[in-house]
Amino acid sequence: MATETVAPATSLHETAAAMVQPGKGILAADESTGTIAKRFDAIGVENTEENRKQYRGALFSTSDIGDYISGVILFEETLAQKSGDGTSFVEMLNRKGVIPGVKVDKSTHALAGAPGEVITEGLDGLRDRLNTYREQGARFTKWRAVINIGKDIPTDCAIDTNAHALARYAALAQEAGLVPIVEPEVLMDGDHSIDRCHEVTELTLRRTFDELLSHRVSLEGIVLKPNMVLSGKDAANRASAAEVAELTVNCFLRTVPAAVPGIAFLSGGQGDEEATVNLDAIAKYGKAHGAPWQLTYSYGRGLQAAPQKAWAGNPENIPAAQAAFQERGRANAAAREGNYAT
Ligand code: 13P
Repeated sequence: MATETVAPATSLHETAAAMVQPGKGILAADESTGTIAKRFDAIGVENTEENRKQYRGALFSTSDIGDYISGVILFEETLAQKSGDGTSFVEMLNRKGVIPGVKVDKSTHALAGAPGEVITEGLDGLRDRLNTYREQGARFTKWRAVINIGKDIPTDCAIDTNAHALARYAALAQEAGLVPIVEPEVLMDGDHSIDRCHEVTELTLRRTFDELLSHRVSLEGIVLKPNMVLSGKDAANRASAAEVAELTVNCFLRTVPAAVPGIAFLSGGQGDEEATVNLDAIAKYGKAHGAPWQLTYSYGRGLQAAPQKAWAGNPENIPAAQAAFQERGRANAAAREGNYAT
């Protein structure tokens, strides 16, 4: 029996392909108001709407952003904001050939009966919200599921409920004509080995694709946003970039169908240079081992830590922030082609 999918529109497939096009990657600038508060705290900036607008407007108006960024994930608030001259951020990005998208989940919450584990909420009312976001100019969406590694976790319950929610979200997004970024993130918090991360990532991806297929999601019309396979942040001996590349690519070769146009890695708390060097090693290994998908980046911290520090809440520092953003953008654009490290 041929599998019908909920997404007949070819434009979904075109948008997904454009998001992962060679030489560029995705900027994740969709921090919720609570998450951006943590980032602003670190640079001594008050978390006001005006400051969020000034900072994000600075990134989006970087002159050559379209050379290394294919799409930007926005937070709901930013989708409706305008820059100083009255141009909406959506329009500003469109003019630069950068595709606007939006985070649509309502964040992680404790999973009942599963201590230490979380479930992402936001499915109730999502169909209506998606229609509003599309009218506001979004062409893709993001939903982040989080899997924790620890003593006796993750449980099958946490992996299955999160995979199920990702699939329900992805089907609704495609129904609304929006490409879903499907983000199952296995966190790097902890002192676990890279082998443990590998095992959990493989199981998570397997379950996620089982659910995507049973919800008739068109795989050509999604972008997968996973973690790299890494040692835990506090592991005694952290694996090298070469080991990360080998385990990551092999894990994905076993679990991610070739119909998926691209895998856009999150940086997940790696240092910004570490995220670039690992991406470069993954790109090289992928090319050498016949990876069938585009391998690219969708970094939040990996692209923004440096510009945030340079900006520090002072409008006079905007050119320095843009220069720092440009540097990280270009470095990651080179890395995704395997042209970064010599
Ligand atoms: P990081 O690259 O900082 O992990 O953020 C990416 C993201 O969008 C997480 O949802």
